[in-house]
Amino acid sequence: MSVTTADTQHATGDIEQRVTALLAEMTLAEKIGQMTQLDASHGNPADYLGERLRSGRLGSVLNLADADTVNELQRIAVEESRLGIPLLVARDVIHGFATVVPLPIGQAASFNPDIARDGARVAALEAARTGVNWTFAPMIDISRDPRWGRIAESFGEDPYLTSVMGAATVEGFQGDDLAAVGTIAACAKHFAGYGAAEAGRDYAATYIPERELRNVHLPPFKAAADAGVAAFMTSFSDVNGVPATGNEFLLRQVLRDEWGYEGIVVSDWDSIRQLWIHGLSEDDRESAYLAVTAGVDVEMAGDTYINHLEPLLNDGEIDIARIDAAAGNVLRLKYELGLFENPYTDPDALPPIGSEQALATAKRAALQSVVMLQNENSVLPLISEELASVAVIGPLADDSYEQLGTWIFDGDPGLSVTPLEAIRKLLGDGAAVRYVKAMENSRSKAGPAFDEAAEAAGASDAAILFLGEESILSGEAHSRADISLPGDQAELVRRIRATGKPVVAVILAGRPLTLTDIVDEVDAILFAWHPGTMGGPAIADLLFGIESPSGKLPATFPRMVGQVPIYYAQRNTGKPATPEKAMLIDDIPVGAKQTSVGNVSYHLDAGYKPLFAFGHGLSYAEFRYDNIALSASEISIGDTIIISADLTNAGDVAAEEVAQLYVRDLAGSTTRPVRELKRFRRIHLEPGQTVNVRFELHTHDLAFYGRDMKLAAEPGEFHAWIGGSSEADLQASFRIVDNQAGD
Ligand code: NOJ
Repeated sequence: MSVTTADTQHATGDIEQRVTALLAEMTLAEKIGQMTQLDASHGNPADYLGERLRSGRLGSVLNLADADTVNELQRIAVEESRLGIPLLVARDVIHGFATVVPLPIGQAASFNPDIARDGARVAALEAARTGVNWTFAPMIDISRDPRWGRIAESFGEDPYLTSVMGAATVEGFQGDDLAAVGTIAACAKHFAGYGAAEAGRDYAATYIPERELRNVHLPPFKAAADAGVAAFMTSFSDVNGVPATGNEFLLRQVLRDEWGYEGIVVSDWDSIRQLWIHGLSEDDRESAYLAVTAGVDVEMAGDTYINHLEPLLNDGEIDIARIDAAAGNVLRLKYELGLFENPYTDPDALPPIGSEQALATAKRAALQSVVMLQNENSVLPLISEELASVAVIGPLADDSYEQLGTWIFDGDPGLSVTPLEAIRKLLGDGAAVRYVKAMENSRSKAGPAFDEAAEAAGASDAAILFLGEESILSGEAHSRADISLPGDQAELVRRIRATGKPVVAVILAGRPLTLTDIVDEVDAILFAWHPGTMGGPAIADLLFGIESPSGKLPATFPRMVGQVPIYYAQRNTGKPATPEKAMLIDDIPVGAKQTSVGNVSYHLDAGYKPLFAFGHGLSYAEFRYDNIALSASEISIGDTIIISADLTNAGDVAAEEVAQLYVRDLAGSTTRPVRELKRFRRIHLEPGQTVNVRFELHTHDLAFYGRDMKLAAEPGEFHAWIGGSSEADLQASFRIVDNQAGD
């Protein structure tokens, strides 16, 4: 006889009571079932998962995005199992679903949490049509190594920017009410330190001193926990010798004990079994033991829990309380999602795929994510009325799939509008468009098509090159050791440059690239990341001045890959470089003595600066910052300070600027970064308009884990800068004085 949820005690009361009541009814096998998540991506999952569902031995599935199949699995779980517990249905909905918004690294370039929130909302609405109720996003790993392919999925190098964007993404997916139609559970990943993979090689070991972990890598996770994220996923990597999936310090001490986090902790794909491959355990049984005792509630795509939790419990190695806590966390989320009341999905109750609103959100996100890196002689914007013809060249000008980027399982290239299509539409009959793809893909070598491309450029008033990386060159397990433009793209640029026509490079890529080869060969560079479904229209609007670029770099662009890791929030060293003291290799006199180059911290062949700094991004307007002011020159622990400056649009077009506040703590119990982003704000300014930008900081915002590993702000002198990038030079100083109050 089938039993429905309505027949059981756990159908009433508040969520905690219902969880407790349900747990009391469950067998051990059913509890372990809730701790199990299996792949449902092939064939008909009802065939190979049905029996598990009926016997209550499966709590969630992943990789399924089809309403009929999901509804059928839910029906089996709810109607044919003893306790009728519905399923969590998880999917990697990373940056959009069918409608794809820019890569997270591109969203971060908007420096606008609304972009992340709205994009996640659109993704949730589309994903929910298929019965997906849990996404594995946001990825909030700090990544300071553009070789790492997963920097594409990150919000870049900065803990504060990542915290803000990550929390906004959680809000977008989850809304105010997880039980509402169209909201889905989010998952903060990969806890923790995954982005510090040695050599930027995915899955490689990480070595992160505890202070660095706490000051740099953990804050975005704390922000996600505070934003109410439903789940955490453990990282694949080894963290200081203890792989994250078996790391009690991270999963128990920090996450549960210090932060009081009560959501689900899920492993990464098969990462429990991999504890053995890492060399942390001797076999699967020990792996299961390590993961469950560290605090992993759900095993993704593995069977160590299925096979070993019961024997471990019977042998007294683990306690039933741990199993109850883990299964309880899963049940709690199911109640919060309203799955017991309504396990089924009605796609018609949700907006259609690719709705007008979804496309508008995707376009707005793409517009704000594009960063104008350079614009020599104001070659941009192109003035359509003044152009008789334009050459559109390159492998990424008209590729509806590649512009979507990595992690787009459900992305629909059919919805994409490519740059070529958008440029043609925008120019209409006004100007001829000569299109030459020139390269089969971003990795192709030079060939006869380069001549054709040069001819097209030579015959046109301007050339726009669509260069970069195909989507397959970034993302999980897609790291690169050379992060310059692949294939013979630099050669293509030189060939077009030789025509003497204005050259604009639009670069679509999943990571910061070393553009040193081409930066002097082009007039302007728009860095568009992988901009998603509406990348084409956004780029066209920016090229032709319908909109002004407003993105800012969320990660430093090195000159050479050998500079990596290079990031703005570095510490000073005892011998910081200065322009006078950093003599470059070609300037060293023959026979020079050892000390001739100045003994400062830099590379002889790359200098000490990046090619483009964190926070950099140009506009068609001209922004000026003046009159930095402080509400006080001294504050006590527990006080706030207001730091303000006048921001003026001194140009002749309306545009948006991202004003940024950086702070340096000059002397601490441990050394502090030379600058740290503390606040930012995106502001629209009309030509000639001045706005007084005010940022409020509490001394909490200046706290860090110092010598005693406690989070506190320390008395002393601080510098503050307000400006348009991490190289801002408008500076003021204040002090925190010791009022003995503590923080
Ligand atoms: C492995 C990835 O590391 C993780 O980010 C993803 O969510 C899971 N696979 C599930 O696909």
